[in-house]
Amino acid sequence: MLGHTSRHVTSLTHMYSNFIITSIVVEIWFKCAAECPYFVFESALQLISHLIAVFPCSKYVTEEGQRIVGGVLIGTGLWIAVTFVMRNVLKYLLSWHGWMFNRHGSLSLTTKIWLVLVKVCSGPKPMLYSFQNSIPRLPVPPIKDTVRRYLESARPLMDDEQYKRMEGLAKDFEKNLGPKLQWYLKLKSWWASNYVSDWWEEYIYLRGRGPIMVNSNYYAMDFLYVIPTTRQAARAGNSIHAIMMYRRKLDRAQIKPLMVLNTIPMCSSQYERMFNTSRVPGVETDVLQHMNESKHIAVYHKGRFFKVWLFYDGRLLLPREIEQQIERILADKSEPHPGEELLAALTAGDRDPWAKARSQFFSRGKNKQSLDSVEKAAFFVTLDDTEQRYDPENSVQSLDSYGKSLLHGKCYDRWFDKSFNLIVFKNGTMGLNAEHSWADAPIVGHLWEHVLSSDPVRLGYTEDGHCKGNPHPNLPGPQRLQWDIPEEGQAVINSSLKVAKALADDVDMHIIPFNDFGKGLIKKCKTSPDGFIQIALQLAHFRDKGKFCLTYEASMTRLFREGRTETVRSCTTQTCDFVRAMMNDKATKLKLLKVAAEKHQDLYRLAMTGKGIDRHLFCLYLVSKYLGEDSAFLKEVLSEPWRLSTSQTPLQQVDLFDIKRHPEYVTSGGGFGPVADDGYGVSYIILGEDLINFHISSKHSSPETDSHRFGSNIRQAMLDMLDLFQFDNKASNK
Ligand SMILES: *[C@@H]1O[C@H](CO)[C@@H](O)[C@H](O)[C@H]1NC(C)=O
Ligand SMILES: *[C@@H]1O[C@H](CO)[C@@H](O)[C@H](O)[C@H]1NC(C)=O
Ligand SMILES: *[C@@H]1O[C@H](CO)[C@@H](O)[C@H](O)[C@H]1NC(C)=O
Ligand SMILES: *[C@@H]1O[C@H](CO)[C@@H](O)[C@H](O)[C@H]1NC(C)=O
Repeated sequence: MLGHTSRHVTSLTHMYSNFIITSIVVEIWFKCAAECPYFVFESALQLISHLIAVFPCSKYVTEEGQRIVGGVLIGTGLWIAVTFVMRNVLKYLLSWHGWMFNRHGSLSLTTKIWLVLVKVCSGPKPMLYSFQNSIPRLPVPPIKDTVRRYLESARPLMDDEQYKRMEGLAKDFEKNLGPKLQWYLKLKSWWASNYVSDWWEEYIYLRGRGPIMVNSNYYAMDFLYVIPTTRQAARAGNSIHAIMMYRRKLDRAQIKPLMVLNTIPMCSSQYERMFNTSRVPGVETDVLQHMNESKHIAVYHKGRFFKVWLFYDGRLLLPREIEQQIERILADKSEPHPGEELLAALTAGDRDPWAKARSQFFSRGKNKQSLDSVEKAAFFVTLDDTEQRYDPENSVQSLDSYGKSLLHGKCYDRWFDKSFNLIVFKNGTMGLNAEHSWADAPIVGHLWEHVLSSDPVRLGYTEDGHCKGNPHPNLPGPQRLQWDIPEEGQAVINSSLKVAKALADDVDMHIIPFNDFGKGLIKKCKTSPDGFIQIALQLAHFRDKGKFCLTYEASMTRLFREGRTETVRSCTTQTCDFVRAMMNDKATKLKLLKVAAEKHQDLYRLAMTGKGIDRHLFCLYLVSKYLGEDSAFLKEVLSEPWRLSTSQTPLQQVDLFDIKRHPEYVTSGGGFGPVADDGYGVSYIILGEDLINFHISSKHSSPETDSHRFGSNIRQAMLDMLDLFQFDNKASNK
């Protein structure tokens, strides 16, 4: 879910040396292309006014007509000028981030005035991409600052000797190699719309050669306590329809851009490749293939692949009609072709064998056609033949199995390369599995919120659990995809499956709906909920493993154009002090907790405003590789493992859900696989005032970890921390 540097560092060694020059040329070209419409439009206007001056049109047009033409021209010119000015003023305003440093819950006068100005310049009803040209570029922070922040973050994790050594390396880097690398990076940042994102996508995701299943793909889960229908086909009917309605809104840019405080826009560029997209394996690097046209989906059921057209008679199929198509697939009793059943295991195993097999066996004839149908589909749907749901009688085991199924399934029943898979289980529960390179989790979360809020409420079901409406009398059925996979091809599939299976079986997944308390009570403690949870994770981790570890928390940098994520290193000297005080039951616990929470907030704000540590160092490292310069400092920093990797899934469209009255009609969040072999992955979602869901993962093969043990440590840590406040409240009441 996060994009971890250490995972793919090895792939960085394959690189082109003249890359920087090429990328600069390409950037200049793109920049010109992007600015072009203005330029063209303005010159056209000038030309027209010249023409009018040179050839008096009075001969052909009445004076009235001339006045109208003149008025229209001046009006248009004025409108363009105003838009242009507004946009640039907005851009200027948005490069200020002082608003973020207000104390929690109160806004300074400056911020208030600034917010009004931003609102005025934003116009009344922004569309998805309205702000794209006003969003500022991510600045490159000074090396000195990044190194200082790095050392500060490393301090609690090193003993004095290690730290001294690291400090030496860092200072040397800052003085010698650093400035040179920084110079190249600055150069890139002047031309590129974002100095990190293209490299991030390429080196963290696309060049990774290991399996993307579990390691990179992540999932989103259904409602926990509600099952709107137990008919698999009906659930698929409504949700596929809802997804297509979302796509239509997206095509028309009718989605409201994400805005902080309802005013400050976040970059929307990650939405662009949500649909019609597949990751395509290559020998050195994969590529993202995005189609501008795609009117069908690909469906997998019991070893067979189907192509289902979603349009008929020039319109989108209605839910009941999609249900009808799905029913036909469920009723189809044909056998899989040789190799077909396990085919998708290719997308779950290592990338190189898949790339080779793809060009060897799938580049001709019907195999190519069928593969095209899958890769060029709007998205992928699995009609899973297992049942997964939250079972109150067996809550732990049922949720763990549900999570694992969404994360990896049987390794051959999801097309992991597809931008996302909709998985509908036998009894009508569902979920998503998303590929990570094209966007980060909040984007998929946005889609998922739309689907879950449309499905049971707006679209609804009939009493007997079907989609509303009627089946179509003469809708052509789904098309079974044809494959002719030779023995050698099947052997590759089998060996990919073996690799994937070992990985999947090793995942120790645990999901906790934590309902002892939630955001409501945490806010009463005057702490940010995220900070509170992060500190609880630190406490839980220390109790779990008896030590601190480098901790990754994903934050967004979408306040900047094409921004993706930045790491908050949320294990700090302050959290360690607090944890030690808890372990030794010191009287200063509460005070230290507040200090730690404050520090965490501070780091989070820095990360969001482009003053993080890890993306900058990552880019410097890449530059050093391009230049063939070795930096011991960068190498060490980039290879430190993240043994605790965390991410909050934000609920974005709160107004879609009535959390107060129907708290059960809300997604239960999502999760991702373990990042380090002996570490934990934790994803959490804060739902309403009283519920927090944790999705915890680790590997069975590590003797150091146990997701269930960590889960109970998290629960205990949350409760213990809350206790501190209640004691405090009682004390201050007296
Ligand atoms: C879509 O792609 C096709 C073929 O690649 C191209 O001919 C067409 O112009 C594209 N359409 C749009 C709207 O970009
Ligand atoms: C995907 O394909 C559809 C249908 O052909 C097209 O209208 C749409 O613009 C494409 N969507 C995206 C996000 O590219
Ligand atoms: C799934 O549905 C079937 C038939 O509707 C039912 O017999 C079965 O008990 C359900 N399974 C669960 C886990 O609820
Ligand atoms: C691949 O595995 C399947 C199922 O385990 C088996 O039936 C088939 O013979 C294997 N094919 C090859 C070529 O190894």
